[in-house]
Amino acid sequence: MPAFTATAPGKIILFGEHAVVYGRPAVAVPVNNVRARAVVMADPRGQVGEIRINAPDVGLETSLEELPEDHPIRAAVEGVLSELGIARAPACTLRITSTIPISAGMGSGAAVSVALVRALSSFLGHPLSNERVSELAFEVEKIHHGTPSGIDNTVITYGMPVYYVRGQALETLRLPEPFVIVIGDTGLPSPTALAVGELRHAWQMDQDKYEAIFNSVAVIVKEARSAIENGNTGGLGPLMYKNHEYLRQMGVSSPELDRLVEAARSAGAAGAKLSGGGKGGNMIALANGGSAIEIESALRDAGAVRTIVTTIEESKSIQIDA
Ligand code: MEV
Repeated sequence: MPAFTATAPGKIILFGEHAVVYGRPAVAVPVNNVRARAVVMADPRGQVGEIRINAPDVGLETSLEELPEDHPIRAAVEGVLSELGIARAPACTLRITSTIPISAGMGSGAAVSVALVRALSSFLGHPLSNERVSELAFEVEKIHHGTPSGIDNTVITYGMPVYYVRGQALETLRLPEPFVIVIGDTGLPSPTALAVGELRHAWQMDQDKYEAIFNSVAVIVKEARSAIENGNTGGLGPLMYKNHEYLRQMGVSSPELDRLVEAARSAGAAGAKLSGGGKGGNMIALANGGSAIEIESALRDAGAVRTIVTTIEESKSIQIDA
């Protein structure tokens, strides 16, 4: 009995989180050394329409219909069935595992949706295009994230560095010179929906102030894009520190994130900033030369519960194995 497997990477936002919700550009890249994986297997003993869900990382062993209607896994499965016009799928088991830290701003939820949509649509004989995979994952993101920009599902679906503007055609980035990023996890959850909601409230109270901050971030993102595409990765560091300062002004940093950013600076990182929703979750630091090990150890001394070193380079999009 063939199993249909798909994987999807984690992601980090290099520049422009939060401002991207307000129509400014952002740059995000996949993190390929952490991944979500979905495997769909036919269940010859099951009844038509019966879908078993097995997600040991989050202690889930259940049938689809026992999940609440707004559960992301149920929403993703039902999104695929309705997209394909299938009322009752052949009996199957869906196994989901992931090495992407949960609630850490690395897109674990979007990666599970993308892997699941790909594996299930292939199992059902109609593998969906990247565009539809991304759109279905976006629908799931909206259930719990309120007003997502769509950047997470996009970078994770395409598995390539992206320059993203909400509502505009996708632009992938040329990346002539790879660079090394150290990811430091505060160990605190990053409540993206809450951070996005609080910022929206602050923006409603003082639009001039926040629009000006978002405009400044947009300038940084455009400069970062040309630095990346021209292979001038050394130029990225100061832009990261500046972007972090604007994220502080938006109110989405935290003492723990600021401490890790300062620890990276003291350890010689070319740049550092929070990444993703903020308040908790991850920060990133740009390691120049061989400084990744020093930065990792400085981050751990300053309270990081986990560090991940990843090389950012042009990468291929993700395939399905059957
Ligand atoms: C979350 O990864 C990035 C945010 O900008 C929210 C979004 O774009 O949907 C904070």
